[in-house]
Amino acid sequence: MTTPLVAHGQLTGLYDLSEIGRDAQRGGYSRHLWDPADLEMREWFIERARRIGLDVEQDRNGNLWAWWGTPGTNAVAVGSHLDSVPGGGAYDGPLGVVSALEAVARLKASGITPTRPVVVVAFAEEEGSRFGLACLGSRLMTGEVDPAYARQLTDRNGISLERAAQAAGVNPAHFGPDPQSLGRIALFIELHVEQGRGLIDLDSPLAMASSILAHGRWRLSINGQGNHAGTTGMEHRRDPVLAAARAVIAVNDTARTHAGTRATVGRLEVVPGGTNVIASQVNAWIDARGETDASTRSLVEEIRANVTSALRLTGCDASITEESWNGTVHFDSETTGSLAEAIAGVPLLPTGAGHDAGILAGHVPSAMLFVRNPTGISHSPEEFAEVDDCVAGVQALQAMLRSVL
Ligand code: HGY
Ligand code: MN
Ligand code: MN
Repeated sequence: MTTPLVAHGQLTGLYDLSEIGRDAQRGGYSRHLWDPADLEMREWFIERARRIGLDVEQDRNGNLWAWWGTPGTNAVAVGSHLDSVPGGGAYDGPLGVVSALEAVARLKASGITPTRPVVVVAFAEEEGSRFGLACLGSRLMTGEVDPAYARQLTDRNGISLERAAQAAGVNPAHFGPDPQSLGRIALFIELHVEQGRGLIDLDSPLAMASSILAHGRWRLSINGQGNHAGTTGMEHRRDPVLAAARAVIAVNDTARTHAGTRATVGRLEVVPGGTNVIASQVNAWIDARGETDASTRSLVEEIRANVTSALRLTGCDASITEESWNGTVHFDSETTGSLAEAIAGVPLLPTGAGHDAGILAGHVPSAMLFVRNPTGISHSPEEFAEVDDCVAGVQALQAMLRSVL
């Protein structure tokens, strides 16, 4: 007997999760790899999967897998991620995991006997909000990040991924390529809330993904001279906050001159951060995206040059270091097309948002199904999806899975 799909006006699973990791300061949710909220999300996943009759395992990289049938090759994997950005919305990630569990629960309840293994997956640290590297769990599994480099990544409190893993009972020495987990997947489908206005403009509740913008993250470190705000004349300052302000304008102005590119500074760290203190250092993170790898890389080079000239008169010195990179993804049209046949009439939609499916697509046939977000806003507490569209997403996912079982 499956639980009702909808409760309190939303998918039951989303309602179950709705109090986990609420961020009273920022609004929305903050759920980051192996922090208390993420651990609670994982507990919910394991309990819900077991209630459906799935067998749950955690792989060497912290990804969770809930199996219908004996784990084996030629499996269909379906899922997304449970972690969030700081102050994120309720749907980015969890909608895909909840929908996958519900679609599998309903297929199981329908009495079919699958012809191949089916597995629901929740990838670790997709947002990279704690350790700075997007899609950490799927990248470790596919060998796209050096485990030694990953282990030394630190969070905002200086805790390394290595220590965080140990605290979560995961052996960091085992991080790394996981050909067994990856080798089992013959097809990966990720349902995800749409994160822009695409489905509003298409006036459609669902769409399949066609592509993902190339995107990366760079840390801009600016060093000046820390000093007293009262005893230091304006002409004697080397103020890195002033330099950062000029740099942010240069980042924004550079991206605006290139159609199809986007560059954002959404995170600033001022050291030491005293109200009556001229800062000694500012770290600013640049998120840059573009339609091709080349256009994104050349955007960043132009940003680097324009930031350097914007800082010339500030007396500060700066460095820009790459922290994360995802090349452009074009989803395999045959895989996407054949899955789309199970839900006739669904349009194709490109996205500027990165996903684990974008990592998997470089290794196994992968596809994405988007669910309309009537606000067109994401990475914000305002992110939203109507329950009817969420139900349509579960039903579409169920039909897609049925078509390949
Ligand atoms: O940043 C992104 O595009 C995704 O939400 N991780
Ligand atoms: Mn996101
Ligand atoms: Mn996401």
